This record gives sequence, structure tokens and C-alpha cells, in this order.
Amino acid sequence: MSNYHIKNLEEYFQVYRKSVRNPEVFWEEIAEEHFVWRKRWDKVLQWDFTKPEVKWFENAQLNITENCLDRHLSIRGDKTAILFEPNNPEEEAQHITYFQLHERVSKMANVLKEHGIKKGDRICIYLPMIPELAVAVLACARIGAIHSVVFAGFSSIALSTRINDCDCKMVITSDGSYRGAKTIDLKGIVDVALEDCPGIETTLVVKRTGVKVEMKEGRDKWLQPLLDEAHADCPVEVMDAEDPLFILYTSGSTGKPKGMVHTCAGYMVYTAYTFKNIFQYRENDVYWCTADVGWITGHSYILYGPLANGATTVMFEGVPSYPDFGRFWEIVEKHKVNQFYTAPTAIRALAKENLSFVEKYDLSSLKVLGSVGEPINEEAWHWYNNNVGKKKSPIVDTWWQTETGGILISPIPYVTPTTPTYATLPFIGIQPTLMDENEKEIAGNQVEGRLCIKFPWPSMARTIWGNHDRYRDTYFSAYKNKYFTGDGAMRDEVGYYRITGRVDDVIIVSGHNLGTAPIEDAINEHPAIAESAIVGFPHDIKGNALYGFVILKETGQKRDRDNLRKEINQQITEQIGPIAKLDKIQFVVGLPKTRSGKIMRRILRKIACNDTENLGDISTLLNPEVVESIIKEALK
Ligand code: PRX
Repeated sequence: MSNYHIKNLEEYFQVYRKSVRNPEVFWEEIAEEHFVWRKRWDKVLQWDFTKPEVKWFENAQLNITENCLDRHLSIRGDKTAILFEPNNPEEEAQHITYFQLHERVSKMANVLKEHGIKKGDRICIYLPMIPELAVAVLACARIGAIHSVVFAGFSSIALSTRINDCDCKMVITSDGSYRGAKTIDLKGIVDVALEDCPGIETTLVVKRTGVKVEMKEGRDKWLQPLLDEAHADCPVEVMDAEDPLFILYTSGSTGKPKGMVHTCAGYMVYTAYTFKNIFQYRENDVYWCTADVGWITGHSYILYGPLANGATTVMFEGVPSYPDFGRFWEIVEKHKVNQFYTAPTAIRALAKENLSFVEKYDLSSLKVLGSVGEPINEEAWHWYNNNVGKKKSPIVDTWWQTETGGILISPIPYVTPTTPTYATLPFIGIQPTLMDENEKEIAGNQVEGRLCIKFPWPSMARTIWGNHDRYRDTYFSAYKNKYFTGDGAMRDEVGYYRITGRVDDVIIVSGHNLGTAPIEDAINEHPAIAESAIVGFPHDIKGNALYGFVILKETGQKRDRDNLRKEINQQITEQIGPIAKLDKIQFVVGLPKTRSGKIMRRILRKIACNDTENLGDISTLLNPEVVESIIKEALK
């Protein structure tokens, strides 16, 4: 088990040094000792960031589900793999063992095959957080179909864009979904989306809520009867190391969402290795990540990372506020959760409520607390540490991205001393660096710059589906031979990293990555609107909220402003989803622009944050006079 489970700081530094000095030897050992391969690799790593091209474990063959399921059967077949906690606390939790999960995945894989799905086909999964979501993901992986999970909070337009971008052949969805007290008509959303998706041949529908839905003849099929008939045995498709495993969409600062492509071998090795260490997972632990499988956190740290380690992973269908604000802690007590991984926005929302919601429950099983998705502010960190961890469970503030596939900067609990708001040290094998304005690396400590990674790691995305040029331009063109993260960071006197936030036009709202351009596009489609600009401003719970500056057309001038605000948010909900709604909308006569016509968001950001004392130099603007009028209107 060399180097697989790091137990103290000295060992961390020693292993880190080895991983950086000789990455190929290091990752080869990890891959060799801890995974099942059908064929060994010819070369551990081949890379060139200028193309960019990155290949790990080239020519190796494997199937990730053999590593996540089959190999556990003889040693932990009766162990719970997935512990499903339904939205309604009255509904019984389900303990799905590795044997059962293996059988369910195999049957599902056979259903896919019977519907003509083959290796390399794309399947869109649009499901709530129910076991069938995990089963569908793993079934795709078992037969080499590429899954594209779309978060079931996205609108039909967002869904159809994603389905068409990667030419999916099939959608797997459910009749409806439960979210707290609400029931959502998922199938209805899919039906609207599919009006624009000619490539979809089949829709498989899970029955969850039992609401009446329309089933389109020849296209839509209830899943359960098909599973009942399916064979319980499905041999794995043998995959090449660099075959795509999945596509997952993430927002960019411009243009349509980017379908990040992750491949089989490197992704498996890195997510498994990080899971083991960053959550210090031990054989009988119960691990719970509250994310949705619709995001990368759910892919890597609800499903693949935990299952590759034979862990028990909790899947929670509901929300933290239902039936009351104690729900998370009730679940921790009920299932004796040992590792709990959530987002700062959830922590802030719960910290606003009465402490009795936490104090009522026995949280003594907790050993590790995790945070992900955005910078965790100091107040939330202390609330989490004091009230949930009772100052005895280390908080791992894990920094990473959809693109990185796995956690890149994080403490290792019980190994790395933690500091509030610091993601601390690079994980094993990760070589971060900070860049200055002149594209030079910033040496030394107590410095701040743009965060880049200068050497490949196994789980990095390999491309953007259908657009390799965009992949290169977005991540590898700002700094030569480096992966640019889009984040700013500080490095303190001991070398700890603190992430300061996005430096591009992506705004993180409640942990969701939102690009300004798609939201502005959605607003601008309104017939009364001429132009708009979105910026973020601090929000107590969401971290950031969205502030829209909107210019009306002549025709819009006479319209009622409150109605227009509602229509704008409606338009955004339809095009993207409710997560992208604006908290504030200000109608303005103009937007501050540079002489080249670019909107000066820096100024708008200051206005949105009510920080207009120090606007910096606005003399270079094309229209400095609009700034004053925007400020005046904002103060009203
Ligand atoms: O800005 C960083 C922020 O989330 C971005 C990535 O978002 P996404 O691809 O949706 O993945 C989120 C889950 C991995 C990053 O560029 N971010 C993520 N984790 C942290 C963070 N910012 C500060 N601290 C973190 N721990």
C-alpha cells in the first residue's frame, strides 16, 4: 500500500516531493497497486500543453465499473455501496449493497444495449438524486457509452442545448422529482426540450412521483418493466485509457456551455486516490457528500471516487431545509456519517437558523468535514467548525473545478494543519503556480496572482467536446505551457494557498458557476430590452448574487418596471434555470464602455457593491457621464 494512504505531514512532504520529481514513477505505482487493468499501459504520461495534448496510461485497457463494482464483490459484496436517503424523511432509506448495485447496473446496461446503445454513443441523464441516477451513470460506463448528466434544475432550453451539443441518442429521466415540499414535472421539461432534439431516439423514464405524464409513442418507455426483463449479467466493455468516460457541461465567460470531456484511466486513478486521502476514508466509514450528481463534485466524490474505494456513499434526494433546517444533522445522526462534504452556501444558509437545529442531534460520528465550490468565508468556517465539527473534526477546504476532475488544493485531514479560508497545500502530484500581469511566475511566499497549474495531473479534462480550439484558447493560451484556472489566489508565508475568486466573467452563485454572457443573452432576447450587463455582488447566503444593469428600448420605456423585472427573471428561468435569476435589476440609460466598446464591468461591480467612492480611472471611458447617472439611480 505504498504511498496510498498518507498519515502524517512528514510523509505528505516526502510523497509530494516524489510525485513532483518523478511523476511517472509515482503514478505508475499508484495505478499498478490499486486498480484492476485488462491491459497494462505502454507509457505513463505523454503531454504537450501547447497543443494541448495529455495522455495518461496510454494503451492501457480497463473498465471503471469493474474497479467500482466487480472487484469488491468477493470481499465486500454485502457492504452498503449506496445509502439512499429520500426527500421525505418518512420514506425508508435504502441500503444498496455492492452485490445489488452490480446487478442493477448490469441490468440497466443490458437495457441500454437492447436499445442500440454502443460504445462511444452519448446519453443524456436528467434525473433527480435517486439511486437510478447512479445506476444509469455506471451502466453507461459499463458499456462504454459516454454519459452527459445534466443537473435536473436546468430548464428545457438549457437541456436541449446540452443534448444537441454532443448529439445524444437517448435521454434517461423520471416522471417527476421531489425537492423539499415541491414536486417538479421533470418529464414535462424533457418533452419541451425534445421538441428541438431530433437526434433523440429513446427516452427511458423512471417512475418516481407517480404523476401523470405524456409518453410519446415509439420514443418514451417506462424503465422498470424493461429492467424486470433484463439479464442480470453484463460483461464490461474493455475501454482504452484515453477513451471518453463522460462529458459534463460547465459555464464559460462567453459562448455556450463547454462540454468538458473526461477520460477513463487517469480520472479513475486520481479521484480514487484523492478520495482516500482527503476524506481519510476507512473501511467501515459512512461518507456523505451533499452535492448533486449533476455537478462534478457528485461525479467524482459521490460516485466514482468513493465506489472505487469500496466505500459506503450516501445519496440524498432532498434539500437542507426540508422538513426543517435540521435535516442534514438528522441524517448525520441517523446514518452515523463519518465524513460530511458540503458547500459554503449551504453552511451559510444553515448558520442563519436557530442553533437548536444542530444541537438537537448527535454528531459525534463525524471525523472529517469538507467544503467545496467557492471560497468559504471566515464566519461560515467557524460556525461549521464549532457547531458541526465541535472543534474536533478538521475542515478540508477543497479547491478544484469541473475541468480538473478531482481536488487539486486541499488539506489532508489530521495531516495538514488547517487555517480558516485557506485551501492550504497542493495535493500530491499537483504543481500550482501564481502568475503576474506580465505572464511571469511569481516566486516566493506572501504573494498574490493568477492561479495556474504547470504540470498535468491524471484527471484533467482532455478537451471540450467538439471544440478543441476553444479548450486551448480558454485554458492554455493565457500563460505559455500552463493550465490557467480562471481563479486568483494568494500564497502565504508558509506556502498555503487561499483562493480569492474568479478573475474572469464567471460568477459563483450558491456554488454554481454562472457565466455572464449566457444570462445577458437571455435578457437581451426580451423584446423591450436593448442591452444588459451582469455582475456579482456579495450576498450573505449565496456568496454572490447577480445584479443586472439593463438598457430599455424605446418601446420598453413605457412599460411597468416591476413587471419587466418579473419578465426578465422569467426569461432567464426559461433559458437557463432558476439558479441564474437576478436579485437586483436596475434600468439604466447606458453602460460604461471602453473606447473599443467593451463593457467596463469593474465599474459596474463597484456600483453593485455600493462602493462608489473609489472607482479608479474612468477617463478612458467612451461615455464617462453614464457612470454618474447609474450611481444616482442605484442610490434611489
Ligand atoms: O472559483 C473556483 C470555485 O469554483 C470554481 C469551479 O467551479 P465548478 O467547475 O462548478 O466546480 C465546483 C466544484 C469543484 C473554481 O474555479 N471553487 C471551487 N472550490 C473552491 C472554489 N473557490 C474557493 N475555494 C474552494 N474550495
